[in-house]
Amino acid sequence: MHVVAIYNNKGGEGKSTVTVGIAEFLAANRNKKVLVVDLDAQASSSCALLGRQSLNAAIREGRTVVDLAAQLKQTRRPSIDPEQFLVWRAASEARGSALESMAMLVPDGDRMYDVESSMVWGKHNHLFRDWLKPKLTEFDFVLIDLPANVTKSAMVCVNGLAMSDFVLIPTRSTHISLNGLPRTFSLIDQVRNVNGDGFPTVLGFLLNATDKRNQQYRSIVRPMVAASTDGEIPPFFQNHWPASPALEAATDEDRDARTLKERFGNAYDHARKVARELEVACEKYERTQVQPIKLSLWQRLGLA
Ligand SMILES: Nc1ncnc2c1ncn2[C@@H]1O[C@H](COP(=O)(O)OP(=O)(O)OP(=O)(O)O)[C@@H](O)[C@H]1O
Ligand SMILES: [Mg+2]
Repeated sequence: MHVVAIYNNKGGEGKSTVTVGIAEFLAANRNKKVLVVDLDAQASSSCALLGRQSLNAAIREGRTVVDLAAQLKQTRRPSIDPEQFLVWRAASEARGSALESMAMLVPDGDRMYDVESSMVWGKHNHLFRDWLKPKLTEFDFVLIDLPANVTKSAMVCVNGLAMSDFVLIPTRSTHISLNGLPRTFSLIDQVRNVNGDGFPTVLGFLLNATDKRNQQYRSIVRPMVAASTDGEIPPFFQNHWPASPALEAATDEDRDARTLKERFGNAYDHARKVARELEVACEKYERTQVQPIKLSLWQRLGLA
């Protein structure tokens, strides 16, 4: 099992779309058993994968990550059955690249903040890692969609990062996007310090909505790619996601896509290759610990 957080502390970089894309391809194209944990109160990936109705039904029935976190926090030695909190999306019966079944842990809007305010940094960081993760071994991949603007007080999100083996950072290739990276690493480093074992490892950066031929890419991203080739920062995925109307529509909750082809349109190949690259990277970096990035490097790259 690999637990991968999709995280960038800046909003709108593609976390939810990338989570949905990777989850659908791992499940339907690579035959993997996938759980998506949506830790964003906005519920973008839950709505995209389940639809609003199923999300609301799960909330009514108390099958959410908030109910799970509350239960874990209440008891000293929690004993939970994760099945009680999972929501399953059925496989499509369409022909061709039909969407596969998938499990989800969904958020519950503002109740997220209520449960977080009762949790304490340092004391409640490892509820998911210690009591939930060991019970998820039936899954090949657990993908965690995190929100933007996460701080140490967002304790459910901290729990999500703390239970992760890896972090994948989607980023657009503009200066304003890359400027958000030092803050993104700052929270990862804080969680890593409290975890005490060098994890999670940053698996790499996924360039989203990127055209490698344009001037911005050449002047802004190439110096970073050079730093990653030298091992100073984590690697860039070789495959990227282009800006594409199909990817823009991929998380549209009203779209009743039944196959990978319908959902990802002409971005199908890009999305397929990125999911495959993630799968290979998880195997390759399984036991690798990454050192924190020095402030001087961000300064040299013009990002701090
Ligand atoms: N490659 C792409 N091509 C076109 N549109 C995209 C692409 N990736 C994401 N988008 C669009 O950009 C917007 C932001 O994407 P998304 O919601 O996935 O980002 P996010 O990082 O999850 O945002 P948030 O921080 O709000 O959670 C969405 O409207 C999405 O449809
Ligand atoms: Mg999102």
